[in-house]
Amino acid sequence: MYQLGGNALFISSADSQMGRGEPVKDTARVMSRYVDGVVVRTFGHGIIEEFAQYSTVPVINGLTDMHHPCQVLADIMTVVERKGGYKGLKFAWIGDGNNMANSWIEAASILGFELKLACPKGYLPDKEVLKEAKLRHGRVELSMGVKEAAKDADVLTTDVWASMGFEKERKKRLAAFKGYQINSEVLALAKKDAMVMHCLPAHRGEEITEEVLEGKNSAVWDEAGNRLHIQKAILESLLTG
Ligand code: NVA
Repeated sequence: MYQLGGNALFISSADSQMGRGEPVKDTARVMSRYVDGVVVRTFGHGIIEEFAQYSTVPVINGLTDMHHPCQVLADIMTVVERKGGYKGLKFAWIGDGNNMANSWIEAASILGFELKLACPKGYLPDKEVLKEAKLRHGRVELSMGVKEAAKDADVLTTDVWASMGFEKERKKRLAAFKGYQINSEVLALAKKDAMVMHCLPAHRGEEITEEVLEGKNSAVWDEAGNRLHIQKAILESLLTG
């Protein structure tokens, strides 16, 4: 926002009236009268839905338990930079069927690229999100395993095994996700020039190995850098119409 010439306020939940029990719909209407746009980063997706319903200014999802659209847009921007586009490419998601996986499914079914996901039982992406992708005739497939998803992929992507809000499940998840890792063997199954992506923070030795994260196929640092640029594009498009 500053780079675009505007101002930004950071309001933590403790600093807002919501921290004192004000209903989300009330805060949304008050804040809409002070600012030109709001980024909400929260856990329950319902909170942002309600905020957006009552807000009269644009509300940007900065992450919920269900979606992480700004990150996926930064990722796709990175793919476009490196591959010249996304049409005809094969994407593979390996790991947790979490907010990032849901947003990848949404993106794949809207933009029309092929996406295979390998997620362990009990950690599959959201059913509604999958249903909506099907209605859009999205080429989204839950694969039988990591190898099948990675085979001939142009893009391999993953995320932490315990997302924000799930930290207490970490021990259980470490066991459940064993094998759902992007490592050299998995990378070898993908296309030679496959891009490896991770929205960070990375846990080396868990969802990705050090070797792959720091290797020549890794696009992770450009992906991180592009978050800044894509957020500016999102702001510009929402604020200037
Ligand atoms: N799935 C992760 C994304 C972090 C950018 C989380 O929700 O913590």
